[in-house]
Amino acid sequence: MIYRKLGSTGIDISAVGFGAWAIGGWMWGGSDETQAVEAIQAALDHGVTLIDTAPVYGFGRSERLVARAIRGRRDRVVLATKCGLIWDRVEGELHFHSNADGITSGPSERAVYKCLRPESIREELHASLQRLQTDYVDLYQTHWQTATTPVADTMAALLKLKEEGKIRAIGVSNATVDHLKQYGPIDADQERFSMIDRAMETGGGLEYCHGHQISVLAYSPLANGLLTGRLAPDRQYGPGDLRNGKPRFSSANVQRINAALERLRPIAERHRATLSQLVIAWTIAQPGLTCALCGARNAVQAAENAAAGQIELSAEELDTMNRIVRE
Ligand SMILES: NC(=O)c1ccc[n+]([C@@H]2O[C@H](COP(=O)([O-])OP(=O)(O)OC[C@H]3O[C@@H](n4cnc5c(N)ncnc54)[C@H](OP(=O)(O)O)[C@@H]3O)[C@@H](O)[C@H]2O)c1
Repeated sequence: MIYRKLGSTGIDISAVGFGAWAIGGWMWGGSDETQAVEAIQAALDHGVTLIDTAPVYGFGRSERLVARAIRGRRDRVVLATKCGLIWDRVEGELHFHSNADGITSGPSERAVYKCLRPESIREELHASLQRLQTDYVDLYQTHWQTATTPVADTMAALLKLKEEGKIRAIGVSNATVDHLKQYGPIDADQERFSMIDRAMETGGGLEYCHGHQISVLAYSPLANGLLTGRLAPDRQYGPGDLRNGKPRFSSANVQRINAALERLRPIAERHRATLSQLVIAWTIAQPGLTCALCGARNAVQAAENAAAGQIELSAEELDTMNRIVRE
């Protein structure tokens, strides 16, 4: 496994992280708790140190499962969670409605608000620490940005929590370069980035972060499973699975992506790697990119993804891959 620094903190993080969204079940058509715990433990056994979760992932379920999985190994984990999406009160800006399975435009059980007010962040952190069964979070990230609270107030609250030792580093997510400038010295930016989601690169975010010692954590590096090369074109997604009905997961598009990935197979075979592993290795080789946060539902997927952290691609292989991806 390759390890890299988290911003300017001196904390080492694995270049392949474990993303704990899918194990929460919400928006992923449910999840199996035993398999979820095994997945996290397999990731840790294979060198992963960074685990990323959020209160909203299963409305507390993901954080609770992470706590179960890391019991007895807390000191070896760089634990990242988030604030800013609340559902237990009406405050801030309405973000979406949700039922137990996922986001809905129909009748809903919960309204989720974006809120980054100082008192709200403090309350959220308290609840996360209880669910995670720990007294500090290594990386605390604002999940989504909102104009309902001045960034300076949010940042002041986060700095206070850092001073108190409740969080060790500050990060943001779903932020523009302009947001990053307003926050000032932070240690991480978590954004969507994969071979087929390049806005972080084209929009200048990667370059900005690289120049300001901000680690970039790529979310959905496998494009929600599309870039594993293993999705069957006729796969049926369960109720609440975010992939259900999305054009990206149509049979025709999955066939198109699988065919493109097949062209990368000779490079994968040279490294005795699977296509998923090659895609992850490509991701962490991108300049300015620190870590690929890979989701996994079970120990087999988690171990496979973690092992991608050992693959080093040559400049020539990266060029060939980039050419194929562009075509
Ligand atoms: N900050 C944010 O707003 C935000 C947003 C999205 C994600 N994230 C973070 O990024 C993490 C990862 O993103 P993600 O979960 O969207 O997507 P991802 O890592 O791109 O894809 C994960 C999914 O791909 C499939 N998969 C993973 N490894 C596989 C393997 N080796 N073989 C076959 N299938 C495999 C699994 O789904 P199936 O088995 O069901 O196919 C898995 O749930 C999240 O867990 C979360 O921590 C953050």
